[in-house]
Amino acid sequence: MMNETLLDVNLKVYTDAATASKYVAYRIATEILDKQIAGEKAVLGLATGSTPKKVYQHLINLHKNAGLSFENVYTFNLDEYYPMQPVADQSYVRFMNEQLFNHIDIPKKNIFIPDGTLSTDAIAHYCESYEQRIADLGGLDVQLLGIGRTGHVGFNEPGSDWDSTTRLVTLHDVTREDGAADFGSKENVPTQAITMGMQTICQAKKIILMAWGEHKASIIQRAIEGTVTADVPASYLQQFKNVEYIIDNEAAALLRK
Ligand code: F6R
Repeated sequence: MMNETLLDVNLKVYTDAATASKYVAYRIATEILDKQIAGEKAVLGLATGSTPKKVYQHLINLHKNAGLSFENVYTFNLDEYYPMQPVADQSYVRFMNEQLFNHIDIPKKNIFIPDGTLSTDAIAHYCESYEQRIADLGGLDVQLLGIGRTGHVGFNEPGSDWDSTTRLVTLHDVTREDGAADFGSKENVPTQAITMGMQTICQAKKIILMAWGEHKASIIQRAIEGTVTADVPASYLQQFKNVEYIIDNEAAALLRK
């Protein structure tokens, strides 16, 4: 069973994150160009955190030095802390502006990031409309993912259902520990977030999960080779053929293959 699963896995292991990130950036650029040629929109699901930073740098380079335009691109970010003001240092709105959007020609109206400023009673309706917006644009063409040490993708922490959709969630203790550096201490990390669900993610036409570094090796082994379980939400991705795992040598260290 395990061997069969492994044979099916679309896994690429690179020597380092820089080379792997270049590959991912070219994949996204190709998607955007293919859609431009067809006169269509490209709908991208984007992640924050340290993992995709180099991908965004390459995309900016392709825009500045190779004329790649983002005018036909729509983006939906996976998640945002709750509560969170967009101007705050740790907001994912700020992250995306600084790491990507301020440096490319994407129309501002095409950018969607979960709103961390809502009142709690407005969240459920907002999450439904986030799903609806994605659906109205024909669904996500490519979803970029990092993976947390808890096995989360987006902020779908252990216990998340495979058919979960965009919603307010409680962050795992380990995730808040990992966020401590950005917030000064773990206590300052919000306890909640708004995240796309596992179903939202898995409905994307293509999914690219990236992981770099030895601190991701153990969770990558469980996500790719372990049992499909709510304890490791990323393991749900094993059930989909459109998932590509792009990792570096260090993150691959514990894979048995
Ligand atoms: C971020 C997100 C998270 C991160 C994950 C890994 O939008 O959805 O799932 O991808 O926590 O974070 P880094 O890349 O900082 O190791």
